[in-house]
Amino acid sequence: MNGWIRVASLGELVSTMSVTMDGVPVALFRTDEGIYALDDICSHEYSRLSEGDVWAGEVYCQKHGSRFNLRTGAVTGLPATKPVGAWEVKVENGEIWIASCKRKSS
Ligand code: FES
Repeated sequence: MNGWIRVASLGELVSTMSVTMDGVPVALFRTDEGIYALDDICSHEYSRLSEGDVWAGEVYCQKHGSRFNLRTGAVTGLPATKPVGAWEVKVENGEIWIASCKRKSS
């Protein structure tokens, strides 16, 4: 499926939340810099990044402390070694949309 999919309203996203897009769990993050979307499942083991702490443009996985860049999904702290997917996000008329097939390179 191509195109944009509405996943939440801006009012629903206070700081972090998990949504499902085409069966894929996606973590949404709202920061002073913008709204970001990453695969919700950590690339190290099973843990939800939407339950992690966000600081200085990174999310800290709650299970073992790996860090991922919110913009790119790149690993910025071990023990994870593989990036997580980063999704294109847009906000229109108070609604958050994610590109269904377009991921930023990470
Ligand atoms: S499960 Fe995320 S760092 Fe281990």
